[in-house]
Amino acid sequence: LAASTAALAQDAYPSKPVTILVPAAAGGPSDTVARLVAEAMGADLGQQVLIENVGGAGGSLGAGQVAKAEPDGYSLLLYHVGVSTFGALYPDLTYNPGEAFDSVGLVTDVPMTLVGRKDLEPADVGSLMTWLKGEGAGATFGTAGTGAVSDLCGRLLIEATGIELTVVPYKGTGPAMTDLVGGQIDLMCDQTTNTAGQIEGQQIKPYAVTTKEPISIFPQIPTLASSGLADFEITAWHAIWAPKGTPEPIRLRLSAALQKALKDPKLIERFANLGTVPVTDEMATPAAMDERFQSEIVRWGKLLAAKN
Ligand code: MLT
Repeated sequence: LAASTAALAQDAYPSKPVTILVPAAAGGPSDTVARLVAEAMGADLGQQVLIENVGGAGGSLGAGQVAKAEPDGYSLLLYHVGVSTFGALYPDLTYNPGEAFDSVGLVTDVPMTLVGRKDLEPADVGSLMTWLKGEGAGATFGTAGTGAVSDLCGRLLIEATGIELTVVPYKGTGPAMTDLVGGQIDLMCDQTTNTAGQIEGQQIKPYAVTTKEPISIFPQIPTLASSGLADFEITAWHAIWAPKGTPEPIRLRLSAALQKALKDPKLIERFANLGTVPVTDEMATPAAMDERFQSEIVRWGKLLAAKN
């Protein structure tokens, strides 16, 4: 009887609104991606897809909430590469990120930008690095907390250059951006989904992009790789996680809705204006995401262990 009740529940899925938890503040880059995806997925699922923001501790708090939620397809997590670093960065975490989730699918891979407050003295990335090694040493650097991708970018920068930064953690880079625009902090390394509008509006100063190649919305911004940091590369791949034990038919239904959402012309246009593109159908699947997530846990585990 229990098995047939579970099967019935899956057939009827979703019979009520689905909640996607974003483990960062509203108005930030993960929230922006999640809201666009949720609206389009909701249209295909025939149910509302609601967003809940639970920021703090780089996203590890909110992710923990989903890790412990009922695995029934109604509680999901949308976040990014950061989830693959929590195990290495938070030894006392009450869940094991590599084992606490089932995958739904990848969403997008967002380039990042090293940006400063608009009146920051150095004019380009070369003079920024010189400044940071001298008079600007210890400049304030806004992040969304340990394990957020803004924090990971800062760690890579510190490692690659030996500069000193004073890290200022927020509950998301949405609020950090408000302070950068207001001149309360000096620098951030954040996703184009949060910086594109402010760069275009000349509210902040762009120094470099973190991708191997320049990006099409800002071809004039140099890459860090071409600015003396030969192998520097970090992007924020986003994905949707479900609590471990979420039945496969439900995850496949969600993956199908995600694939459809990622073809929505409105979403594609909005993504393009924010400097990103949706992944292909093949990548928006549990199998492709599993592979990426598990290999990233290994990669970041090594990288962070080497640095600690
Ligand atoms: C956010 O939405 O605030 C970001 O994704 C946080 C980050 O990882 O930098």
